[in-house]
Amino acid sequence: MYIRTIDWKDNKVRMIDQTKLPQKLVYINIDRLRDLWWAIKIMQVRGAPALGAAAAFGVYLGVKDYSGNDWLGFQRKLKQVARYAASARPTARNLFWGIERACAVALKNNKQPIFKIKQLILAEAKTIMREDMSSCRKIGFYGAKLLKHNNTVLTICNAGILATIDYGTALGVIYAACAQGKKIKVFSCETRPLLQGSRLSAWELYKQGVDVTMIADNTASSLMAEKKVDLVIAGADRIAANGDSANKIGTLNLAILCKYHKIPFYIAAPKSTFDFKINSGSGIKIEMRNAQEVTKILLKKNTAPPGVKVLNTAFDVTAHQLISAIITDKGIIRPPYIKNIRRILGE
Ligand code: MRU
Repeated sequence: MYIRTIDWKDNKVRMIDQTKLPQKLVYINIDRLRDLWWAIKIMQVRGAPALGAAAAFGVYLGVKDYSGNDWLGFQRKLKQVARYAASARPTARNLFWGIERACAVALKNNKQPIFKIKQLILAEAKTIMREDMSSCRKIGFYGAKLLKHNNTVLTICNAGILATIDYGTALGVIYAACAQGKKIKVFSCETRPLLQGSRLSAWELYKQGVDVTMIADNTASSLMAEKKVDLVIAGADRIAANGDSANKIGTLNLAILCKYHKIPFYIAAPKSTFDFKINSGSGIKIEMRNAQEVTKILLKKNTAPPGVKVLNTAFDVTAHQLISAIITDKGIIRPPYIKNIRRILGE
């Protein structure tokens, strides 16, 4: 089944409302930056590469109705739109990267008429979408080499079709290996508190015909002890220049368990997730989210006493020493990371 997370149709961003999955596959059509900002905030769209494309479209939506004809006025509007779009969520590098690309194309063409600059921003957002489709497939191509026939992969959160345009990073590796005829089993951690593993990864893997078994997050260690996991692959929201990788809270737990159980732990992410300005994971801003995501099941039924103190940290950082390799669209990067990241990504 072909699933397309984000598209541009009839002058609107068309995307799957991920808060409705797995009950219903519903699409929403957005033509205002305000609505897009909110969709990102409440995670109707989420996952680093999908946020990159959504944010670039957001820049276009934010400037499309600007009525002036002067570059300086337009530039002021662009800066205001960029700041607003960037305030939706703090951790995924791709969100900022998408905004930066949209702004850079405007700056580079600042001698053009304003209507033309707007068209170029929209074209750049579409290019980001197309590039993601191709780079995820490259990640799949490189990563599939690490998977053997009959391997069992454990994953967390959703780094699949729903976190990208139409293929996935960590799950893209699994799709590519399956397409090569390898038999692959997947354990999908449910991923408390918002259950991206059960609601999204289990849903899309199942739809793609992959042999997926959902587990509660705290099952991972015992499965590893029973030698039922061959490798772990997770996505990333932001990767520092030394390879430290931020991803959904609980990823670090898995990396530490892998070290103990001597299981390879891989991160899969495109070049656009790397932040070369940040030397190590300690520089990555970690999103803190609403307590109710933890005290209620999917913001509905109470699972904790009202008023109890809550810490809802959305991401954690896995130190590069715990990562066996980073699977990127430019190839597989192995330690020593500082040197090899620059060499393979060409920065
Ligand atoms: O809070 P989310 O659902 O946006 O978190 C997403 C993740 O942690 C993904 O693993 C990451 O963005 C990589 S997506 C290819």
